[in-house]
Amino acid sequence: MSVRRKTAEQLRSHRWYGVNDLRSFGHRSRTAQMGYTAEDYRGKPVIAIVNTWSDINPCHSHFKQRVEEVKRGIWQAGGFPVEIPAMTLSEPFQKPTTMLYRNLLAMETEEILRSYPADGCVLMGGCDKTVPALLMGAISMDLPTIFVPAGPMLRGDWNGVVLGSGSDTWKYWAELRCGNITQEEWTEIENGIARSPGHCMTMGTASTMTSAAEVLGFILPGFSSTPAPDSRHAQMAALSGRRIVEMVWEDLKPSDLLTDASFDNAVTTVLALSGSSNAVVHLIAMARRAGLTLDLARFDAIARRVPVLANVRPTGQYLMEDFFYAGGLRALLAELGDLIDGSTHNANGKTLAENVAGAKVFNEDVIRSRASPLVQRDGLVVLTGNLAPRGAVMKPPAADPALLSHTGRAVVFSSYDDMAARIDDPALDVEPSSVLVLRNTGPIGAPGMPEWGQLPIPKKLLEQGVRDMVRVSDARMSGTSYGACVLHVTPESYVGGPLAFVRDGDLVRLDVAARRLDLLVSDEELAARRAAWVPPAPKFERGFGLLYSQHVQQADLGCDFDFLETVTREHRDAEPEIH
Ligand code: FES
Repeated sequence: MSVRRKTAEQLRSHRWYGVNDLRSFGHRSRTAQMGYTAEDYRGKPVIAIVNTWSDINPCHSHFKQRVEEVKRGIWQAGGFPVEIPAMTLSEPFQKPTTMLYRNLLAMETEEILRSYPADGCVLMGGCDKTVPALLMGAISMDLPTIFVPAGPMLRGDWNGVVLGSGSDTWKYWAELRCGNITQEEWTEIENGIARSPGHCMTMGTASTMTSAAEVLGFILPGFSSTPAPDSRHAQMAALSGRRIVEMVWEDLKPSDLLTDASFDNAVTTVLALSGSSNAVVHLIAMARRAGLTLDLARFDAIARRVPVLANVRPTGQYLMEDFFYAGGLRALLAELGDLIDGSTHNANGKTLAENVAGAKVFNEDVIRSRASPLVQRDGLVVLTGNLAPRGAVMKPPAADPALLSHTGRAVVFSSYDDMAARIDDPALDVEPSSVLVLRNTGPIGAPGMPEWGQLPIPKKLLEQGVRDMVRVSDARMSGTSYGACVLHVTPESYVGGPLAFVRDGDLVRLDVAARRLDLLVSDEELAARRAAWVPPAPKFERGFGLLYSQHVQQADLGCDFDFLETVTREHRDAEPEIH
């Protein structure tokens, strides 16, 4: 990769600090107001630290300390750090779903970088949607960018039983509902499942997307796996601060890192990790921001050749702390060998091949070899059929294998509230072979495509020992969830996708091997139901909800706003002069 050294006069911040006019007087005098002298910033790269810390985000609770370590690195390397807070997107707290606000944080990130004197940026996130959101904004702005991931929290503990975020919540909630554990035990689990700073330590969306971000080149090699409380995590923060200053001088930007090959590597990595199905939506959105074409068909094609090597919950047995001790992402990438294109680049300026050279697996049960994978292939599949003309996704390794070829009677819920009201009703006409259908849970319908796709098993079936059923929805599913859940059905039912026309008792056929999802009713009958369908009223009349509803795209296009996709390089270079 060629290195083009910038001069101080070529820094973007020179327009704020380096010239001698009325405006720059204001910039300098107001910087002095904060206690800095010209020696602190003159001729130095200004590094915006976009920090998603907040009191309501437990996954980022250590970011107050980490940001000081990032700043230390920036000062050491001769940069000028400027911390700028951004919307936090706290997965456990934000309603109806953080996904509703992913694009808003992406917009905020892009506009922060555009409107302030940033020469480069350090993005601080980790909790699920913060990773794609921050990166989408930074990709669009295309300034030198490095990502400091929150890192996974430590293993959960319940009287010696290892607990995993999300996965064990769903598991023990089912056991509580059918009387297998007590309320006291449930409270003990509540107090032990999240016991340190950091993001979810299962292979949820956070671990999946930070791993993908590392493979795309935004995170220094190996550090997406480092647990949040580990001292090496703090070291990573300082290293990232030092490195971003050099990246500015080298003018190493996202557009230098992102290629079709780097996205193929990210998809391959997600599949080898048996990562969150949410990665499909996020990676497509990120690629489209970069002006690249990544689509559902590419995911399915890559899945056919990539084995699952990470034995991490919910597909596997272990947690991210174990994955780190077993060698972490570098070891997994080394094991993937020729399935990865080693010529792509990382923020550290080296190729992926150089960065994984010498990486070793220290526990072959946690990181499997290609000769002994957890799952041979198809860690994620893309289904199409008359029920999902533009596609749906499913994670077969997280499902009961007996359900991968299945035909059952539909039990239809028209909304989440309808499902919540009736799922445990003893009178619900449902049997183990039924297919639970949930509609109006897509990007526009819910809104924000919440993680409702793992519909709970009806209580009366739980009590019979049923633990998995085929479930179909236009929702997403938490990466920590599991089950035979068909997700992201596109187009969504709220805008007239075929899911809107399913009725109780219709036969739904799932055939994973054939990549099919079909409603077994005639074309004529489907057409008649479509003709009789009355579109629901718009959900919003004002505000962000209206903007969102008018511009969000469907899941197969990544749910980005149509007006935020990539503009040409010429357009970006012609941005208005800043005065
Ligand atoms: Fe933040 Fe899971 S709640 S990553």
